Amino acid sequence: MRRPALILGTVALTVVAVVLVVLVLRDPPAPTPTASATMQPTPSVTPVVPTELSTVLTTDFDDPEQDAAGWEPLGEGVEALRSEEVPHTGTGSLLVTGRSAPWNGAQVDVTGLVSPGIQHTVAAWVRLGQGGGDDPGAVRSGTVRMTLQRTGDAEQFWHVADARATADGWTELTGTVTLPADTTDGQWRLYLESADTLADLRLDEVRVSRPTPPVQTEIASLAGSTDVPIGTAVAEQDLSGRPAELLLRHFDQLTAENAMKPSVVQPTEGQFDFGPMDTILDFAVAHGLAVHGHTLVWHRSTPDWFFTDPDGRPLTADPADQQLLRDRMRAHMQAIAEHLTERYGAANPVNSWDVVNEALDPGEGDGLRHSRWYDVLGPTYIGTAFDTARAVFGPDVTLVLNDYDTDAPDRRRALSSLLSTLIADGVPIDAVGHQMHLRVGSSVAQVDATLDAVADLGLRQAITELDVALTAPDQQLDTVTADQLTAQGTLVRQLVETFLAHDPEFISVWGLYDTRTWLRSWPRDRPLEAPLLFDDDLQAKPAYHGFLAALTS
Ligand code: XIL
Repeated sequence: MRRPALILGTVALTVVAVVLVVLVLRDPPAPTPTASATMQPTPSVTPVVPTELSTVLTTDFDDPEQDAAGWEPLGEGVEALRSEEVPHTGTGSLLVTGRSAPWNGAQVDVTGLVSPGIQHTVAAWVRLGQGGGDDPGAVRSGTVRMTLQRTGDAEQFWHVADARATADGWTELTGTVTLPADTTDGQWRLYLESADTLADLRLDEVRVSRPTPPVQTEIASLAGSTDVPIGTAVAEQDLSGRPAELLLRHFDQLTAENAMKPSVVQPTEGQFDFGPMDTILDFAVAHGLAVHGHTLVWHRSTPDWFFTDPDGRPLTADPADQQLLRDRMRAHMQAIAEHLTERYGAANPVNSWDVVNEALDPGEGDGLRHSRWYDVLGPTYIGTAFDTARAVFGPDVTLVLNDYDTDAPDRRRALSSLLSTLIADGVPIDAVGHQMHLRVGSSVAQVDATLDAVADLGLRQAITELDVALTAPDQQLDTVTADQLTAQGTLVRQLVETFLAHDPEFISVWGLYDTRTWLRSWPRDRPLEAPLLFDDDLQAKPAYHGFLAALTS
């Protein structure tokens, strides 16, 4: 790794971000004819509303599954790992160890998140750790600095913020940086270093935000154009400012992108954290939105303790272990149901649940994924999950089996076969959720065939996680062309027409605007991927117009 050069000329260095309230002096009002001769004109003072910021990157290192959440070590022998010691908030922070040079630290790729010509605000919490001095017990301090770098041929550096940090507590770093308007291309990274200590560095709650143009008010509301609920996946950052305006304008249903997954709700057995989920549900209740619950039984985002006995032994298909796992499944659902009743009563906005997520694997003889749930309980874990969800959440909640790539013929076959078994066994399944993570070039005919196959079995259906990528997972875009966006819009229109022809329970997209798509980091960095209906500036894309055209045609 090369050493970052020192600062270049174009530095926008602000240690503390200050919101400037600009006072504008207006012309005094003209005296009315009845005004007294002694009246002095008083200038009126109009505060200009500060520009709305929207968050383009936020990392709290709280999700064990995301590990370092894309942060990487900077320097030979350096490690940057998620740590659960002394987080600033939540359960984790990033710990950078093995620094042998001042510039050693940690970095994250922000290509596609920062844009030329506009001011970005960067904030993070930092703290020193072990090392960096002869006396490890001494209270150490040092200056920690964050820098935004344009990498590649035309390398440039902007020092965004620095602050004096210590090993005793957390210090906030904030600053702003405006990238020159002529830096229209390039790869960008944000990094952390300390010039005057080699101590370990800790980092938490990194946020990069930028001003967002006003949400368009002249275009039709998607949800307002149909009786079918139109949903989107959200995280906390979508619930304020301009993203919230966009959300409330076009959507009448929410799915928590991560906040209702088992790893968030019950990270440790018996210790529930409903905070992240409540943030989303409170917003939904306040604004009259429905919520699709996601998710209860899944092979991912489920802590290992579910499948481990109290002594740390992995559960087996032994009857006692099976009972333990069934009990844990029920306890998890029961605690959520009780919480919803206590907090929201009759106003509980969650009217459907992904009970089992991603159960299919056409590569297996029985077409089922051999997850830990399957290993311990066998294929009947699916029926057990639905029975339990029905008992716990009651008769009025729509119980969904949710899966991806259901349009692929082999997965369609596996799905049909599973559904036939569940129906024959009297399992209380109401609907199939089709995630619909598609891409430009996906076949509408295959989607249609799957929706027909499920309809033939008499089940209801929902589109739960629609996004239409511009590229395959192994491709990377250098630039996004107007033609690609037009093709995406055309496909979205055809898809939504096909969905509507099958009377869906709801159609939900997986993210509010392109900056917020999971596909920019999964299964690898694709910083320019743009699979959603609104662009990085929250403005409508051809995909929005295609969606609307299908709703109104
Ligand atoms: C994704 C989220 O969008 C990411 O933020 C997270 O890191 C991983 O999970 N199918 C699902 C969703 O059912 O839960 C996944 O969401 C996307 C694929």
